[in-house]
Amino acid sequence: MNPTRKRILAAIADGPVSGPDLAAELDISRAAVWSHVEALREDGFEIASESNGYTLGNVPDYGGPAIEYGLDAPLEIEYRDEIGSTNERARELAADGRSNVAVVADRQTGGRGRLDREWFSPSGGIWFSVLVRPELPPADAPLYTLVAAVATARAARAAGVDATIKWPNDVRVGERKLAGILTEMEGEADRVSWLVVGIGLNANVDPADLPGDRPVTTLQSEVGAVDRRAVTQTLLEEFWDLSTAEPEVIMDAWRELASTLGQRVRVETARETIVGQAVDIAAPGTLVVDTQEGLREVTAGDCDHLRPTE
Ligand code: BTN
Repeated sequence: MNPTRKRILAAIADGPVSGPDLAAELDISRAAVWSHVEALREDGFEIASESNGYTLGNVPDYGGPAIEYGLDAPLEIEYRDEIGSTNERARELAADGRSNVAVVADRQTGGRGRLDREWFSPSGGIWFSVLVRPELPPADAPLYTLVAAVATARAARAAGVDATIKWPNDVRVGERKLAGILTEMEGEADRVSWLVVGIGLNANVDPADLPGDRPVTTLQSEVGAVDRRAVTQTLLEEFWDLSTAEPEVIMDAWRELASTLGQRVRVETARETIVGQAVDIAAPGTLVVDTQEGLREVTAGDCDHLRPTE
């Protein structure tokens, strides 16, 4: 959001401030104050103007300015009512040299999941992709997927939903999938050039509108319709805060929310099927499985939790 508009909103949040006072505080003309206020109203902010000044009323439910207002993370929001895929758009922004942007959409017409699967993204969900350029060797990029999973589970929990993480990156309630993460990157020899972390959180959506052969759930079906703006802000803030933490801190946060550890699992990798007890994760996000042949570290694959007898 334009920094002057951000400052106007902050100034009028707690009561009336006159046009001349705002103009003096921001060192702009009274006409400029007026035109910024008009622009904010067009973005959906309710701004009363009375004889004693401007006062902020309701903030828009969702959208770019709504998410940016009060967001405690240095991310710019690019919002679309409809888009093919937010990951695709974030990749375009990466090609343009941009960074620290979150592309957020109300619905996606070509949402993509892991392993080239389709990701259904009807209106009401929280679908976004964060573009960052961390100083990280490419091999450590999976840490960002752990960060995204923790941030998503924490945001769901803050909304009252008992979410846990299934390795590598599904956020679930019981055995029903609530959210998924698709991380893409471009790397040079020794460092990441850009990372796009796409998060799809089934928020105010009817599970019947999410076809597929695996059980799914939504925040709305768990606890009723949520404030998407608040959930998105919490998620982005948790993501931003944890992304700068040390790997051990990230992995501890992941362990705390993981449902996979302690489970008997079957992991299908590109080359083989590994069955055993999931005992831990290791940097940058590999699953440590205790198999009949000893401990194995699995970097990528499709993981199923098995019943003890399987
Ligand atoms: C998965 O298969 O579990 C990952 C799903 C990731 C979906 C999100 S929605 C926002 C972003 N844009 C996309 O096209 N995909 C990701």
